[in-house]
Amino acid sequence: MKILILHGPSLNLLGTREPEIYGRETLEDINARLRERAARDDIELRIVQSNHEGVLIDELHKARADQFDGVLINPGALTHYSYALRDAIAASALPTVEAHLSNVHRREEFRHRSVLAAVCVGQVIGFGWRSYLLGLEGLIAHLAGRPNI
Ligand code: DQA
Repeated sequence: MKILILHGPSLNLLGTREPEIYGRETLEDINARLRERAARDDIELRIVQSNHEGVLIDELHKARADQFDGVLINPGALTHYSYALRDAIAASALPTVEAHLSNVHRREEFRHRSVLAAVCVGQVIGFGWRSYLLGLEGLIAHLAGRPNI
């Protein structure tokens, strides 16, 4: 099984970026935990962080071409307005899970809306770095055909 992990804008700064909201774990810490979990099931991960919408879109296209099985994405602020990213997720036709460190619904109003949610399998929101692990767990279950157990 091959899974693409995408981290959007400014997530490269995790650890020092507004730690009271996003925690003190760095992106490398989170990636290490994801790799550890994936290794348990012999899952291949490709992990990409980009501050550029187009790079994230290119990665989705590439994942489809390379016959990946699913995508876990924290799109950062692109969540709230990027129709281009939404179309790329839909075009990839890959089961995609959206993850957010913070509980976006407890924050500013512009963060309450995700334009991507409707093309995703599900969302995990508000559990800090654990949102990624819970999202990966959910995606693996979905891909294994057992989403409800
Ligand atoms: C975020 C929430 C977004 O609103 C914000 O723009 C981010 C991080 C999160 O993980 O909580 O960059 O996606």
